[in-house]
Amino acid sequence: MRIFAFLFHTKMDRREFLKKAALGVAAVAATSLLEHPVVAAANEMINPQKNNRMKKIMIIDGGPRRNMNTAAMLESFANGAKEGGAEVKTVRLYDLDYKGCISCMACKLKGRASNICKFKDSLTPVLEEIAEADGLVLGSPIYFGDVTGQMRTFLERLAFPWLSYNDYSITAPKRMPVVLVETMNGTPARNNSNGYGTMEHCLSTALAKPERLIAYNTYQVKDYSRYELAGFSEEAKRKYREEHWEEDLQKAFEAGKRMAGE
Ligand SMILES: Cc1cc2nc3c(=O)[nH]c(=O)nc-3n(C[C@H](O)[C@H](O)[C@H](O)COP(=O)(O)O)c2cc1C
Repeated sequence: MRIFAFLFHTKMDRREFLKKAALGVAAVAATSLLEHPVVAAANEMINPQKNNRMKKIMIIDGGPRRNMNTAAMLESFANGAKEGGAEVKTVRLYDLDYKGCISCMACKLKGRASNICKFKDSLTPVLEEIAEADGLVLGSPIYFGDVTGQMRTFLERLAFPWLSYNDYSITAPKRMPVVLVETMNGTPARNNSNGYGTMEHCLSTALAKPERLIAYNTYQVKDYSRYELAGFSEEAKRKYREEHWEEDLQKAFEAGKRMAGE
């Protein structure tokens, strides 16, 4: 009290003191509100970079071969994303033991509906990590016109919990940029790819309109002379590869860098 009385008499009148005190209380309240864990988490979701947290990009490789075309495109994307300052995690679906949606309907239970799949297997931690990521990249070779069975199976588990059977809205835990990578024998002029098919609509609605990266006319084997592949001209393949492959990898690299900076 003595301090207050001293302030009134010496530096400011009562009204000015009360104004300053109120401003001080508001500033302290605002600071503690920003530090509140719920507000901080929401703020970080809106803009992770503002909070100096590295962006986390999840790359899902739906191809079986470790060192061939799809893996190379995804690795180039990862290198670009890392150069752009993002943290990258690559998951190889063929290394995991999981099922597609088993229609248990646990994600749609009354009062306990979830937009992350409730069925527990080795895909569970991947789905949980994607829910918190800042970007998603899917890669698959084209098999019989579609993505691989492994990729499709993964997508069932990812997207079914996003779909509301109450109003048919599609909502993921968090929106984020998406890149879809395809590699195939087909050429830009002649191919049978349906890409990610109907799943592309789910990804678009729930996360963001995907950017597509396609490597056409890839080398299916390293040495055509060792296989019964007479339907392909290795010479034509080599020519196409020399003209396009490095450019395809570069496009993947640039897309990675872009996603890191988004
Ligand atoms: C089972 C199987 C089915 C395939 N079906 C197609 C197809 O329908 N259209 C196509 O353009 N390429 C097809 N391909 C070729 C692959 O898509 C192509 O070689 C791809 O780049 C392989 O990716 P990877 O090198 O990452 O394994 C098929 C390959 C396999 C093994």
